[in-house]
Amino acid sequence: MKIEPFLTEQFFAEYEFSAQHLLASSDCETMSIGELLQLSGSTLDELGGLTLGYTESQGDPHLRSLISNMYSNVSSDDVVVLTSPVEGIYLAMQTLLESEDEVIALRPAYDALNNVARHLCSEVLPWNLFPGRNCWELDFDELESLISPQTRIIVVNFPHNPTGYVPSESDFDRLIGLARRYDLWLFCDEIYRGLEFGPTIPSAADLYEKAIVLSGLSKTYGLPGLRAGWVVIRNAELRDELINWKHYTTICPAAPTEFLARKALLVKDKLATRSKAIIQQNLNLCEAFFNRFQDQFIWRRPQAGSVAFVELNLSQIGFDSATSYCHHLAQNHGMVLLPGKCLGFEDNFVRFGLGRSNFEVALKSFAEVISANRPTLN
Ligand SMILES: Cc1ncc(COP(=O)(O)O)c(C=O)c1O
Repeated sequence: MKIEPFLTEQFFAEYEFSAQHLLASSDCETMSIGELLQLSGSTLDELGGLTLGYTESQGDPHLRSLISNMYSNVSSDDVVVLTSPVEGIYLAMQTLLESEDEVIALRPAYDALNNVARHLCSEVLPWNLFPGRNCWELDFDELESLISPQTRIIVVNFPHNPTGYVPSESDFDRLIGLARRYDLWLFCDEIYRGLEFGPTIPSAADLYEKAIVLSGLSKTYGLPGLRAGWVVIRNAELRDELINWKHYTTICPAAPTEFLARKALLVKDKLATRSKAIIQQNLNLCEAFFNRFQDQFIWRRPQAGSVAFVELNLSQIGFDSATSYCHHLAQNHGMVLLPGKCLGFEDNFVRFGLGRSNFEVALKSFAEVISANRPTLN
């Protein structure tokens, strides 16, 4: 049975490893294994002594304990370590969904959050973020109107990829209240948690017994190549079912990944602070850039996370869609921006990624490309 194309990964596969300027990456600046070991007070010798046998399917107990300490109402038994964050979406949807079920999911969204469910259940109803005057907005009244007797899961992602939206604490409470009232599972992707610049909201895992929380080390902690991820599930029966599905995908986490993930979690605050400093600097650059080119872009500053979703004024830019503009930029200028269409949204938005330290150089080149095409405006 065919599943929808994973458009984001397909677009990146075309350009990510050949283009000179990556302006759309969602991860934060990474580091070498040596740097991570040094930062966490460990050594290459310690890594070298690691044996490569099978590991525990649910994940190393010591690692699960470090993960559970990131929450206030979660025990190490509630944690399942994955072989990558994205695996958690597949496992949770497979575990929960039957063909007659409906899912309510944020749109735009990281492809897997919509496509896996769409492959398995009768319908995925979009709960749309919409562009407000200065920031992205979400209508919490709309959510209740989407719930039906067939609804099984509400899928959200806060801080949100690609808009950087985070609900207020009272809106988040409202969402959890609705999930509880209608006895729904809440799949909450929190992989960008820790990258907030304003108020933070609690983890759904601490607030709701039927939350399934996804997280990992790829974004906030800058270690995407480690493929370290986890889900928190407080319901023991569901957790066992998910682990059973995991036996069919990856069986157990990779031993070197678990070792390095443990080291990373010992210094997680340092890693997150480093990522936030880079994003903060890049946000300042964006403010100046979008102020300069306000005829071509509508900038809505993200509240949190490492990405921003920017509207294009296509008639000024001279392209009929964000997709054609992005292919043009990648093919002719070695510059990667992600078309919003890949994330299930209208084709006049692009995603910017703010977590890389070479963003300044890339943005400068982008400004030169724009200026060369619009000399009269500068
Ligand atoms: C919202 C969201 N969830 C999950 C993932 C998956 O993370 P990973 O690629 O590290 O498996 C991503 C990656 O971009 C993401 O943006």
